Amino acid sequence: MELGILRRRRLQPIPASPARDLPPDATAGEPLIRMIDIVKTYHTPAGDFVALAGINAQFWRGEFVSVVGKSGSGKSTLANMITGIDKPTSGRVVVDGTAIHTLSESRMSRWRGRHLGIVFQFYQLLPTLSLLDNTMLPMDFCGMYSPAEREDRAMELLRMVGVADHAHELPGAVSGGQQQSAAIARAIANDPPILVADEPTGNLDTRAADNVFRVFQDLMNAGKTIIMVTHDDALAHRASRLIRLADGKIVSVETLDEAAVRASRHSTMPTHVHANARSKGHSSKLGAAIGMSPLTEGLRA
Ligand SMILES: Nc1ncnc2c1ncn2[C@@H]1O[C@H](COP(=O)(O)OP(=O)(O)OP(=O)(O)O)[C@@H](O)[C@H]1O
Ligand SMILES: [Mg+2]
Repeated sequence: MELGILRRRRLQPIPASPARDLPPDATAGEPLIRMIDIVKTYHTPAGDFVALAGINAQFWRGEFVSVVGKSGSGKSTLANMITGIDKPTSGRVVVDGTAIHTLSESRMSRWRGRHLGIVFQFYQLLPTLSLLDNTMLPMDFCGMYSPAEREDRAMELLRMVGVADHAHELPGAVSGGQQQSAAIARAIANDPPILVADEPTGNLDTRAADNVFRVFQDLMNAGKTIIMVTHDDALAHRASRLIRLADGKIVSVETLDEAAVRASRHSTMPTHVHANARSKGHSSKLGAAIGMSPLTEGLRA
């Protein structure tokens, strides 16, 4: 898969092994996303409901993080805090240097168009536009790239995700997996550093889901930060880091062992290592990296 098109702008080199869960003083540099003391309370007729109960998390450039947890645990709410689709009741979200919780709705959509790609479970392609036109939309909307360049770029992106042959077809004429591939092409049209996907494979069969996952892996290798909410445990365990939520709190973090990553280059079934199984020092660093207190870490045993 050709990802040269994504390297047009400055992208940090990816370390040979995923030391991306290390703290900022390590190889990964400053976190790209910081969630600080995030609380989200929904006010309902039945009373207040706390969907996120104090989330502290950090995400680095070039890492692929899956977010798992039971239905209702707060996964989508967390994703929506990063995309700015929803705002925290209290706390701060800093994405690529911007405190997005402070942005007005109009500034938010301009900001989002350039900094973030979003992929949804049901693709959300415009049904009356071809896959190519859907992919060009974000560039048109944000005035990115010259008008002459946009079609070439959209075509290149569709080729990258494997659906160039269907570029001129309407979404309804292609499979769910192909629609999701086009939705990913659209999400990265403006070359954002971050891709947030909420249940991107929830509507796909295993093969199509695997294809989507591989596209995400390629994007990670091109320096993108991928955050994927999923119910699919097997897929989640193939990301470079896994955050588990329960009742609006982070209850555990797992990371790929370096050896497992090496193995993953030759196999689609890498071994996963729970953070607790690693050396205490590393585990503590990992906890600090995502803002977990030693007390919370103790609860992961
Ligand atoms: N707009 C809202 N108003 C009231 N409650 C809400 C709202 N949005 C979400 N919730 C509640 O907040 C909790 C977390 O919702 P969220 O959608 O983040 O869960 P989730 O982990 O994504 O679940 P699922 O796996 O089913 O998608 C749920 O109990 C949900 O009912
Ligand atoms: Mg959800």
